[in-house]
Amino acid sequence: MRVLITGGTGYIGSNVASVLADNHVPVVLYDNYENSYGPEVLDALEHLHRQPDAITPVYGDINETLHLENTLKQMGITHVVHCAGKKSVQESEQNPLAYYDTNVRGTLSLLQAMSAANVKNIVFSSSATVYAPSHYALSEDNVCLAVSTYGRTKLVCEQLLKDATKVGFRVISLRYFNPVGAHPSGLLGDRPKANVSNLFPIIGQVLRKEREFLNVYGNKYATPDGTCIRDYVHVQDLARGHFNALEMLDSIFDPFQVINLGTGRGYSVLDIVNTYARVTNQEIPIRFQEPRPGDVPSSVAHVRYAYDVLGWEAKSSLEDMCLDAWLAER
Ligand code: UD1
Repeated sequence: MRVLITGGTGYIGSNVASVLADNHVPVVLYDNYENSYGPEVLDALEHLHRQPDAITPVYGDINETLHLENTLKQMGITHVVHCAGKKSVQESEQNPLAYYDTNVRGTLSLLQAMSAANVKNIVFSSSATVYAPSHYALSEDNVCLAVSTYGRTKLVCEQLLKDATKVGFRVISLRYFNPVGAHPSGLLGDRPKANVSNLFPIIGQVLRKEREFLNVYGNKYATPDGTCIRDYVHVQDLARGHFNALEMLDSIFDPFQVINLGTGRGYSVLDIVNTYARVTNQEIPIRFQEPRPGDVPSSVAHVRYAYDVLGWEAKSSLEDMCLDAWLAER
């Protein structure tokens, strides 16, 4: 197996690369560094994995179909992990066409390049945001009803990938819940260049004193402490899920599979604040604000299918997630 990771220097892509390198799978990281500190991440990966040829960077855009095709052929790629994409809900509402361009046209371009290079195994970065909101654990056959443009681009990509199985593609679409934490070295964390809006990076800014306090969006939800509940999953556990998915691609019964990656446990915003403060021994000042538009009260994965199909389950505790996130943030 030789794997090309699109968006390979991003938060998820770089952690997947490190897990594959740990398992002696050579990887090519295809990225245009639009929302990642590409060269720094490559240095970090080189520091962590010193085997020659373990990791090869290729600078490029997923919409450059011919460049992708040539890369796939020249590098002898057998499998693709497709992480490249835009992921900010708010930005997707302000600039929907850019989201369709990168996420949907980019995925089509990748599939065309893969088809021309006769590489037909792909693991796709999808998101739990595709599900219709529910207070119960979300299983893969739950109704999908993405409320944001970002979520709809992920759903369109899944449909595109499903149709591609008619011409021989084998697809596992991984629906991530809330990836947090970092590589335990602290070197591969969530460091977007723009649009920092996720809870963990913002807590990092508060602890570094770049922000006075954390805005907690809503405290009157129908949840035990009134704040939203999410299924936070350690990014290294999530990355292991990609390795399992790559290994299982040849043997899946249905050539298109969607699989949740989460822990099956929900934590509230206040649970996160309290745990993060406790394990780092620091205070996190908060202010309650009005709910953030588009937030759902609860989003927790049903995780049985991931275990059945991939033999995968998340292992890290919330304490580990907070400690590793802080190692990368400070
Ligand atoms: C968000 C996206 C989701 C995307 C995921 C990963 C929305 C509505 N959803 O998930 O589509 O896949 O990021 O990029 O944007 N919170 C605060 N204060 C903050 C930031 C967050 O209270 O400053 C709360 C939020 O209200 C939410 C929880 O923390 O309840 C988690 O927020 P966040 O990390 O942004 O993830 P999601 O909104 O779940």
